[in-house]
Amino acid sequence: MASRPIISRTVPALRKALQPYRAKRQTIALVPTMGALHSGHLALVKEAQKRAKRVVVSIFVNPTQFAPHEDFGSYPRRFEADVKALSEAKVDLVWAPSPAVMYPEGFATRLAPEGAALAGLEDKFRPHFFGGVATVVSKLFTQVAPDVAIFGQKDYQQLRVVTQMAKDLDLPLKVIGLPTVREKDGLALSSRNVYLSELERGHAPVLYRTLKNCAARIKAGEPIEMVLEEGRLEITRAEFALDYLDARHALSLAPVASVKDGPIRLLVAAKIGKTRLIDNLAV
Ligand code: PAF
Repeated sequence: MASRPIISRTVPALRKALQPYRAKRQTIALVPTMGALHSGHLALVKEAQKRAKRVVVSIFVNPTQFAPHEDFGSYPRRFEADVKALSEAKVDLVWAPSPAVMYPEGFATRLAPEGAALAGLEDKFRPHFFGGVATVVSKLFTQVAPDVAIFGQKDYQQLRVVTQMAKDLDLPLKVIGLPTVREKDGLALSSRNVYLSELERGHAPVLYRTLKNCAARIKAGEPIEMVLEEGRLEITRAEFALDYLDARHALSLAPVASVKDGPIRLLVAAKIGKTRLIDNLAV
């Protein structure tokens, strides 16, 4: 039977659990998650195991990155199933603080990221989001003090924001983004896919199909705005309410007018029924 990882729930317990690794100068990788783990998360764990001797997975549904009208209350929580999957994956330690441990009474400091965090993509529709993400991820980084932290590229703007935050705060770790894991039909794996009805699930692959089609046409030299406009129509025809489909510089997330301004990343966010999905692809 796979051995259960150590589960730490307070900062002193976490420090105590990490201490033997540090004493032996073992490298540590952190995979930050909000739980409800799927094979995309487990791919991050696998990569973490290649890059460090010890792997810590944090499971924390972070209240500060949800607006009051969003799905904090209903976000899927499956702690025991997650721990079982992490035991099978041979993870060393699960860092699972409560909101009161992460944000104790009197907590008063919040990061306000700029740059990619104000690109006019996710931030336009979720203005509170990157402040909450940068704050909690900076705390996770200082709590665990990993050598490397592994994120999925599905939350592409988040990856850019976190990478910049670690650099700006001189945090001594490497932030790594791994390619999105997809279903056979192209739908990006996400803990929120469980919200989709059968009918919505049938429509959902249109996001990736459109990204792929737009990327190929832009690469072939067709005008970016015309290609995106047609892509937007395709997505809205598939019952989605589109937030954005845009082409941006892959690092700064600044708008681009032509392939010469690249490397280009296409990013999309759209809602079907009550579920908001995001995805992105390199051109
Ligand atoms: O991508 C996520 O799951 C979350 O935004 C993160 C990075 C764990 C911060 O809460």
